Amino acid sequence: MEDKRILCVGLVCLDIISVVDAYPVEDTDTRCLSQRWQRGGNASNSCTVLSLLGAPCAFMGSLAPGHAADFVLADLRRYAVELTHVVLHPTSSFPTSIVISSVSRGTRTILHTNSNLPDVTAQDFERVDLRRYKWIHWEGRNAAEQVKMIQQVEEHNRTCPAQERVATSVEVEKPRQELYQLLGYGDVVFVSKDVAKDSGFQSAPAAVQGLRPRVRPGATVICAWAEDGAAALGPDGTLVRSPAFPPARVVDTLGAGDTFNAAVILALSRGRSLQEALTFGCRVAGRKCGVQGYEGIV
Ligand code: FRU
Repeated sequence: MEDKRILCVGLVCLDIISVVDAYPVEDTDTRCLSQRWQRGGNASNSCTVLSLLGAPCAFMGSLAPGHAADFVLADLRRYAVELTHVVLHPTSSFPTSIVISSVSRGTRTILHTNSNLPDVTAQDFERVDLRRYKWIHWEGRNAAEQVKMIQQVEEHNRTCPAQERVATSVEVEKPRQELYQLLGYGDVVFVSKDVAKDSGFQSAPAAVQGLRPRVRPGATVICAWAEDGAAALGPDGTLVRSPAFPPARVVDTLGAGDTFNAAVILALSRGRSLQEALTFGCRVAGRKCGVQGYEGIV
């Protein structure tokens, strides 16, 4: 039988990336170092990384027709990401981000479109054969629907043998009130630096300790803090930390958080300790920052 996969639920979009030395001044005319199209979206980026790390994975999300969709679909196939749960919305437009990636500062500035592409729903999720997955990860978006999806998995887990249970994780990246209900769900909760700061925390260890009462008992909470590394609090309340592993030269930080999440999920899904998973996540995210895109992270 095929290995069980890791399913990531969330956004796939097109990133139109201009690589510049320094972020341009408004109303100037500058030449960039290079330009490229790249498949983007947190869940889709995490799938790329899982694939590169050798993990069978699948993507679930919405798509609208057109050239951008053709490009991202071909790219998902190129990375052997399974696509059986992509929901097509024929009359929506495809989400695109303009990204300015500054090499000298290691920043990535993202300009999103609100494309009115509906996110996948709990009803769409009912069609997922949960027995095919060992881990399902949600990029926090339409939180109320996503809570219902996680509850479907919890119900499945209550009624199946222990070794068949599907592990769950959520990512709360954007500091938006609606997303904070997701903190109470999932075996593993990833919170971003932005969310941690929005909740009043000034470091990753302070965030994971302070947010512990918000996650469900027995859950793990993880927070990455760019060049300060990451911290996590496991089910037994032990704090673990990892430093960052910055490359000799930072060339592209776009998707570094999605890379971290994928690497941590993969390590935990293979039974590694929280400390090992956290360190692995920081190492792979560090390597990602040293390359354009994702090729070369392994
Ligand atoms: C990176 C990313 C980009 C995308 C944007 C969407 O984390 O997923 O690929 O344009 O964020 O929020």
